[in-house]
Amino acid sequence: MSSPTASAGRSYADVYRESVEHSEEFWLKAAAAVEWVEEPTQALDATSAPMYRWFPGARLNTCFNALDRHVRDGRGDQDALVYDSAMVPEASRTYTYTQLLDEVSRFAGVLAGQGVVAGDRVIIYMPMIPEAAIAMLACARIGAVHSVVFGGFAAKELATRIDDAGPVALVTASGGLEPGRTVEYLPMVAKALELSSTPPHTVIVKNRDHVPGSAADYRNGAAAWFDWDALAADASPAQPVPVAATDPLYILYTSGTTGKPKGVVRDNGGHAVALTWSMSNVYDIGPGEVWWTASDVGWVVGHSYIVYGPLLVGATSVLYEGKPVGTPDAGAFWRVVSDHRVSALFTAPTAIRAVRKADPDAKEIANYDISSLKTLFAAGERLDPDTYAWATRVLDLPVIDHWWQTETGWAICANLRGLDPMPVKAGSPTVPVPGYRVEVVDGEGNTLPAGAEGNIVIGLPLPPGTLTGLWRDTDRFVKSYLATFDGYYLTGDSGYIDEDGYVFVLGRSDDVINVAGHRLSTGSIEAVVAGHPAVAECAVVGIRDELKGQRPSGYVVLKAGVEIDPETLRTELVAMVREQIGAVATFRDVTVVGALPKTRSGKILRKTMRQIADHEQYTVPSTIEDIAVLEALEKQLRQ
Ligand code: COA
Ligand code: AMP
Repeated sequence: MSSPTASAGRSYADVYRESVEHSEEFWLKAAAAVEWVEEPTQALDATSAPMYRWFPGARLNTCFNALDRHVRDGRGDQDALVYDSAMVPEASRTYTYTQLLDEVSRFAGVLAGQGVVAGDRVIIYMPMIPEAAIAMLACARIGAVHSVVFGGFAAKELATRIDDAGPVALVTASGGLEPGRTVEYLPMVAKALELSSTPPHTVIVKNRDHVPGSAADYRNGAAAWFDWDALAADASPAQPVPVAATDPLYILYTSGTTGKPKGVVRDNGGHAVALTWSMSNVYDIGPGEVWWTASDVGWVVGHSYIVYGPLLVGATSVLYEGKPVGTPDAGAFWRVVSDHRVSALFTAPTAIRAVRKADPDAKEIANYDISSLKTLFAAGERLDPDTYAWATRVLDLPVIDHWWQTETGWAICANLRGLDPMPVKAGSPTVPVPGYRVEVVDGEGNTLPAGAEGNIVIGLPLPPGTLTGLWRDTDRFVKSYLATFDGYYLTGDSGYIDEDGYVFVLGRSDDVINVAGHRLSTGSIEAVVAGHPAVAECAVVGIRDELKGQRPSGYVVLKAGVEIDPETLRTELVAMVREQIGAVATFRDVTVVGALPKTRSGKILRKTMRQIADHEQYTVPSTIEDIAVLEALEKQLRQ
């Protein structure tokens, strides 16, 4: 079934050309799929370029578009959100649009009752339970700005985000369930509030039967702690509050090259238009179809395609609490597809690799009826040709790689399923999505010829739905993304465009690494490692990992005269990173080295170190301070 707003039967080339040559008309037409309180009369506002804004003067409510309008239009009894828990199967439940609207309106009433008003920030630190989505939509309903923090981050990372966002409230749960262990959130929240210089005045806790701890245990702190269910029982439903299209919907922190995360800001109007357009044109999913993104609401993929995208178009979204393997086995994905008649599954290549490792011949598929599945989408890291070939063979379906970032909020490059499909080239996310002018440039900003590798950049303005800036840090926004090449947004990825216009994304050109689809900053891990009393200096680089794509690998130089058993040091450093950043950093490798290779100006040659560790060919940088250090390192790592 093709969705009603898709441009099916239209060639990619035509739609792309229209998007760049008649951008204003293109996006105003796309905006007609959204319901506005004040219709847009203009798409782009370039008056403060390079700070572009979309749909100036228009007003809407994102939650109304995701819920109320579908109930009004007769979809009230259709499933909106399917919570499938592999961790607590008996807790699984489904919400129709009417039920979800009821829950969201009441929780919006809870927030309003706590004094949360439009523009206020609310931190959401939740596991993969429906209340995470309910809290996000409730914020959107009253115009509050949510900032979801991934549950795998520890107290210090949570505190950093609290300090930057300045929230009035924090919504959490007693905890999350990871295979074989319970992650208690409340002690971490309490510690984060202690560490924070701007703690919120209100904490709301959703109790889970399977995780100990409740708001009642934390009555003595500076913030007031409340129980979600108790507040919701007495709350009156809140009505949607119209906001400006340009008002922020959320802040999502992501790793940059320094230890300080970047607060990516997304607006309401551009976001609603872009995601609505993407559901039909990129994914070919429409009202009533079942869509499943196997990610986490703490990441951008979860924001866009567990919560907002599918609900904006009246589809059914599956929210899965579990892993691709081990919960209980490598048939988990096929079980969910079969149980809920999923039409399209979106996951990270690392999850596909995990399934392949556990079940190389995909024998588990035979145990389920996965005939509803028409497409598998992958993003979060490059879909390597080997994994692509395996998935295509075992599923006998289109397997579609697409490339995007927290900053863009939706795909930069894809093989658009709602348009006439294009041939797939393994290893490439295909072509620029309409609205994105993708180029590859050298270090001086010169456009490179087909096939030549360089910096991937996007011509300004970026399309609707992409970041409008970094939270309260315009300087950093300009410096990180706009200042390197005039008129372009710097993606931080490197790659090339081939003679057919297919983009190949090969990896980051900065110190950001990608571990199991999770984006991490080596700088923040280094900051923790450097805090160990025995460590004089250190470097953390992302080395190749068969399952997770990359993993962080630490190289430390000991302080003069310090004697410490390497295994003791490793155990202590691993514990420190886990305690200060979180389990998700998966920091396990520590190598003690004599010295770190540096440039004459003192910059650590991390790229060269990574190449040595990965047994790749490398060129000795002309700026090297002491070649003997590099030679010693190579001897040690490649012996
Ligand atoms: N809360 C608390 N801890 C978490 C967590 C969460 N939400 N998510 C992960 N962790 C913990 C894990 O329990 C693990 O802890 P451990 O060291 O005690 O075992 C650690 O963080 C590392 O987790 P992860 O990297 O996810 O490894 P894994 O072995 O548990 O699972 C995969 C491996 C490949 C199955 C898993 O990483 C995966 O499904 N990745 C897909 C990621 C994704 O969807 N990314 C979004 C982009 S599309
Ligand atoms: P995140 O902001 O967490 O979504 O991570 C974004 C980064 O992940 C990008 O800058 C890329 O380095 C990488 N990435 C995401 N999707 C892809 C893809 N399909 N191909 C290659 N790299 C990808």
